[in-house]
Amino acid sequence: MTAAATASQESLKQHLNVTGGLQLNGTFRVSGAKNSALVLMTASLLTEDCVELVNIPNLTDICSMSEILESLGVQVTRDSDRISLTASNLNGSNPPYELVNSLRASFFSIGPLLGRLGQAKVPLPGGCRIGARPVVEHIRGLKSLGAVVSVEHGIVTASLPGTRKRLRGAQIVLDCPSVGATETILMAAVLAEGTSTIENAAQEPEVQDLASLLNVMGARITGAGGPVITVEGVETLHGCRDYPVIPDRIEAGTFLMAAAITRSPLRVEPVIPEHLSAVLQKLRDCGCALEIDEQGVTITPGELTAVDITTQPFPGFPTDLQAPFMALMCTAQGTSVISEKIYENRLQHVAELQRMGASIRVDGSTAIVEGVSSLSAAPVTGSDLRAAAAMVLAGLVARGTTKVSGLKHLDRGYDDIESKLSRVGARVNRNSV
Ligand code: UD1
Repeated sequence: MTAAATASQESLKQHLNVTGGLQLNGTFRVSGAKNSALVLMTASLLTEDCVELVNIPNLTDICSMSEILESLGVQVTRDSDRISLTASNLNGSNPPYELVNSLRASFFSIGPLLGRLGQAKVPLPGGCRIGARPVVEHIRGLKSLGAVVSVEHGIVTASLPGTRKRLRGAQIVLDCPSVGATETILMAAVLAEGTSTIENAAQEPEVQDLASLLNVMGARITGAGGPVITVEGVETLHGCRDYPVIPDRIEAGTFLMAAAITRSPLRVEPVIPEHLSAVLQKLRDCGCALEIDEQGVTITPGELTAVDITTQPFPGFPTDLQAPFMALMCTAQGTSVISEKIYENRLQHVAELQRMGASIRVDGSTAIVEGVSSLSAAPVTGSDLRAAAAMVLAGLVARGTTKVSGLKHLDRGYDDIESKLSRVGARVNRNSV
């Protein structure tokens, strides 16, 4: 069993005991962004040189990605929050199913593998509890760049036709602004011959972070962070040293909501405020005072009143914060309408919140949340990463001690959550069954 799989097995046997009713105070330190770190690691496949990244979070997903890259021949060295990746001797373009299946983001390696080696064979990432999560746009983009792509027996095979040595630049218009498709196509286009444009591109900060890293490595990309990205292909990329991963906006948002749900003043840093604009606005709208500076955000919650949210691609309200925000709205005064527009099955935390006394009705992909005067502790399970975070938040304010299972998910995306929460005054303990 791989190290990541062993860690994941361990998490299955564990749960968190979250003591409700304590005030938080102090400063919460935000780790590097999981979703950035994963794709930046994949970008190391594009060069023979060493790519050195810093501010890497300590997460099981990062271990899984390391193992996937190692299976392709990348030398991976980890030292605290630094990771060095050298893809000088790639021994394959075919990551194994078991590994890809454990980490959807590893499918995005099809872009750099194709760009660098001219071929890639990557298993389809498979379904996901929160929704279907197709990769149609990724494949369509690679085809536009001149790749021959087929899908058979659950494996996507992409290669260059005939004697071609490089992909060729193209205009690609995405049907939807998929983050993964934008990143996959970007990584394929940087080594293509000629200029590519990606229209209706995802504008998420993680896409901007990827483009910045690639530019440091010698790529010529403009427009990332906007709806049209232009890539002038180059022949080779070089390595880089100490490229810092952006702070995790979803972790930051989760802990601003932890402060709000416990009605505690808290400092959260580092935060890039523009990465969280929609979330900060909603926190203000529901009654939190925010002081924002270059390093972070200080939140001082007041009486909380209900506000509505609709999840949208960036710069809209992120789907990854919908579950934590729902936990918060369970304790606000009034009725909040929460519409999930990105994933068709991302309201599984509703049933768990109801077990803690929340009053929520579901109508399709919309949840109508009536604030209650208090939540009560119960054994609950996080069905996915962000649902698990929502359970921890609810536990922080519930009467009694909430037992949160589903740490396999939580540990994928929150770096040392119990220590970080304990440092700001919460009582959260990890226990093994
Ligand atoms: C990334 C994030 C994930 C986040 C999501 C949306 C990573 C590793 N994960 O996932 O945390 O929740 O963005 O912000 O970065 N879609 C299609 N066709 C496609 C591709 C996507 O219809 O070919 C749809 C999906 O069904 C979904 C929406 O687009 O409804 C968003 O998916 P996408 O942006 O691709 O998410 P990921 O990149 O997988």
